[in-house]
Amino acid sequence: QKTLKEAYKNYFPIGVAVAPRNLSGPEAELITTQFSSITPENAMKMGPIHPEPNRYAWEQADAIVAFAQKNGLKVRGHNLCWHSQAPGWFFTNQEGKQVSREVLLDRLKEHINAVAGRYKGKVYVWDVVNEAVPDTSESIYRKSKFYEIIGEDYIEKAFEYAHAADPDAKLFYNDYNTESAAKREKIYQLLKKLKAKNVPIHGVGLQGHWSIYEPTQADLEKSITQFASLGLEVQITELDVSVYPKEHERRARKSTDDGVLTPEMTAKQTAHYKMLFDVFRKHKETITSVTFWNVSDKSTWLDNFPVPGRKDYPLLFDENYKPKAAFEQVVNFR
Ligand code: XIL
Repeated sequence: QKTLKEAYKNYFPIGVAVAPRNLSGPEAELITTQFSSITPENAMKMGPIHPEPNRYAWEQADAIVAFAQKNGLKVRGHNLCWHSQAPGWFFTNQEGKQVSREVLLDRLKEHINAVAGRYKGKVYVWDVVNEAVPDTSESIYRKSKFYEIIGEDYIEKAFEYAHAADPDAKLFYNDYNTESAAKREKIYQLLKKLKAKNVPIHGVGLQGHWSIYEPTQADLEKSITQFASLGLEVQITELDVSVYPKEHERRARKSTDDGVLTPEMTAKQTAHYKMLFDVFRKHKETITSVTFWNVSDKSTWLDNFPVPGRKDYPLLFDENYKPKAAFEQVVNFR
């Protein structure tokens, strides 16, 4: 039986998102045998790693990086600037008033310098800015606190700070829903602007929180080739294939299939994973990593999200850590 990392050694590293609880026991065994890269699922995000002004909580991120070094795994850093899981204090002063552009830029710089600096030489690629583009509105820019207080140049500043802190790290913009026509176009416009301004950006992360109904092969390939046309690498950074339709699909289909895994779902998921990896291999000049978001169906962030109480089965290993039919399709290709 081939492992994921053996099957893909001539293509790209295969990664997985990990939490400290995965670093021992059966999931640790899977991580070290199957994967060649890890991403801290939460430990390096702004809130978890920088809970208070002048206090960093390095413990979990350090443990994950040490595990990677001990086991010869690459580390994808995730992430340096994101509106979600950012600590409230970041945007306010001691009186609880919103800080100025200058203060927020200083805080962002200090934060990025501290985090990217600490893991310099250990983290090979950073998601510098995460999810800055909205799904629905016309604007290219999500109306986050970073955008509202600093303006659109918070994005290029974040990349500049990261580059200064670790000049050898590859720097990525990362987002989800990157295959929808409208959002693809907005992300493309953003990346094009950054490239035109010579911002130090090397790649774009397609999160890949997909389902057995999406994306189509055509939409996926269009995103990969359009982003690559800017001279950027593409990484699949948070892959999982939900057995349920995403919310917009659900509305379109009026789906009610919640909570029960059927043979039809498994068959569709197997075929979908085959299609996805056929595409990734076809674009191996562009795609420089594929990372799964969690290890096995035993426990994934999609349990209870977005539907409370609902279990999901989005990965290649089942609830008993055994390879699924989708795994066979992914490793056995010609
Ligand atoms: C998720 C984690 O998996 C959860 O544990 C956490 O509660 C919320 O964040 N896009 C991202 C990831 O970029 O950081 C998110 O991770 C999933 C969506």
